[in-house]
Amino acid sequence: MSAATTDHLPAPTIVDLSVPALRARLPDALGVYVAAMAYPRGTENHRAPMWTEHTTRPGWRAVAAVQPDEYGRVDLGSAPILAVAYGYRGAPHQWWHQQVHAGMRRCGWSEPATRDLLTDYFELTELHVHPAAQGRGLGSMLLTRLLQDRPERSVLLSTPEVAAEDNRAWRLYRRTGFSDVIRHFVFAGDNRPFAVLGRSLPL
Ligand SMILES: CC(C)(COP(=O)(O)OP(=O)(O)OC[C@H]1O[C@@H](n2cnc3c(N)ncnc32)[C@H](O)[C@@H]1OP(=O)(O)O)[C@@H](O)C(=O)NCCC(=O)NCCS
Repeated sequence: MSAATTDHLPAPTIVDLSVPALRARLPDALGVYVAAMAYPRGTENHRAPMWTEHTTRPGWRAVAAVQPDEYGRVDLGSAPILAVAYGYRGAPHQWWHQQVHAGMRRCGWSEPATRDLLTDYFELTELHVHPAAQGRGLGSMLLTRLLQDRPERSVLLSTPEVAAEDNRAWRLYRRTGFSDVIRHFVFAGDNRPFAVLGRSLPL
């Protein structure tokens, strides 16, 4: 996808993705993820089983920004995907939950406060906008749509640490009111430092 080829087309549309819709478009959705994160080609292949398994988790919800055709029509089976986001309800048996629990305790959160926060949250697992479509508010629109009418008390996410919080992800999360839960946290199996951020719901 290139920005130049979409200039004459209608503005992107935000759509909910059902489980079958995401599964059918998984290679395209993962293509957005790999391009947005600048991961090496092939990352899609080992992420596909994980994204598929995530669709089975309670409270799973996904949204996407898609490009309508020149007449403003959207065929979900083929419309170019410009951005994708999903998440689900956090639960104690999940790896991410356990990592965050341990990280919160290590950085000084009490056990009751940790349990209280981790009792009722939506994990914002993935949010990615294709580089050619970034900087036009799509990330913000997907975030708002994904978190609309959620039953959970709060939303949590992790994002890589960057100097001076100077990237679009950090600006988006701060603008949306996310605050620090853990900083400079290293998840098992990944030596990059991450921040875990959260905020109460509704937005
Ligand atoms: C992080 C990411 C999801 C944000 O999505 P985005 O669409 O690029 O970002 P936003 O929705 O915040 O909009 C970006 C900019 O567009 C501007 N903008 C333009 N028109 C806008 C509109 N109508 N509404 C809102 N913002 C608009 C905003 O001011 C914002 O400015 P900024 O760059 O100074 O923050 C996206 O940049 C991305 O995928 N990055 C790489 C992958 C990544 O980091 N993912 C998150 C990992 S946790």
